[in-house]
Order: sequence, then structure tokens, then C-alpha cells
Amino acid sequence: MAKYFIYFSFTGNGDYIAELMHEKGYEPVKLELVKKPNKIGFWQILKYGGHAGFRKKEKLAHVDFSLKEDDEIVFGSPIWNDRLSTPITTFMDRYNFNKETTRFILYPAGETTKKSLKQIKKLGFISEPLVISYPLKKTEECKALIEGAF
Ligand SMILES: Cc1cc2nc3c(=O)[nH]c(=O)nc-3n(C[C@H](O)[C@H](O)[C@H](O)COP(=O)(O)O)c2cc1C
Repeated sequence: MAKYFIYFSFTGNGDYIAELMHEKGYEPVKLELVKKPNKIGFWQILKYGGHAGFRKKEKLAHVDFSLKEDDEIVFGSPIWNDRLSTPITTFMDRYNFNKETTRFILYPAGETTKKSLKQIKKLGFISEPLVISYPLKKTEECKALIEGAF
């Protein structure tokens, strides 16, 4: 059985959580876009927020990963337009992730993640996601939340 933290990150919050999850024995699997924007500003937020709203599939760079039945999976996603980020939803479609054991860590810039929580339920996953707001700004809080949950 292997433990994986499959995540996406434009601006480092996901990377920080990946480090903490690695300490907990989860191998990080970082998803990357084939075409990466040079910076994340207003236009990029508009563009990728739109992708999330319209459930666009992204072109992802190749990543070494294969799923075995008893693997333990935790997804890590920033919140885009109150939803899961599209690299994560794109990757989720490729495998039959266990609906009962797969877990989620969501890292919004605010507190609201209403649509993403609905989205996860609608996809059939039963576990309550761990929501960590501002991981890079509130590192101690983030550490404590990870410590308590894993
Ligand atoms: C395209 C886009 C849309 C976003 N939409 C939201 C949002 O609706 N709500 C929110 O709280 N944060 C939103 N954010 C902020 C990110 O969710 C937040 O900064 C996250 O921690 C970034 O993770 P990362 O640094 O690993 O990329 C958005 C960011 C981007 C790039």
C-alpha cells in the first residue's frame, strides 16, 4: 500500500502542504499544466476561474503515477471560483479513486468553499475535506490542522 498526496499549486501553498504531508508518509504527486502561465494576476484568475466554472479539462504534463486498489489517496486543491481547481478534476477522471477512502485538503484564500464541498459530494466522495485557509500565511495553524488530521 502506498500513500499519495496528489495536488496542484500555482503559488506555493499546495507545495507547503505537500512538504507537511511528506513528513506524514505521503508521496507528493504534483500535477502541472503543459502550458504554465508566467505569473498569476488578474487575467489568469479570470481565465482559470472561468475554467473551473465551466469544468474545463486541462492539458496536464505527464506524471509518474499508477493507482493500486489499496493505495491511500489525499487530493490537495486550491479553490478556484469557489470550486476545485481544474487540474485536479481533470486528473480525477483518469482513475477510479476509492469514494470511501479518498480524502481532500482544500486551500482557499478565504473561508468559503461552498461549491467545492458540493462538488466533492456530487462526485461521490464521502469524507469531509480538510479546509486550510492561507496555508503560507498561517503556517502554524496549517501544521496543527495537518497534525490533527493525519
Ligand atoms: C484562478 C484562481 C481562482 C481563485 N478563486 C478563489 C476563490 O474563489 N476563493 C478563494 O478563497 N480563493 C480563490 N483563489 C485563491 C487560491 O485558492 C489560494 O490562493 C490558494 O491557496 C492558492 O494555492 P496555491 O498557492 O497552491 O496555488 C483563486 C486563485 C486562482 C489562481
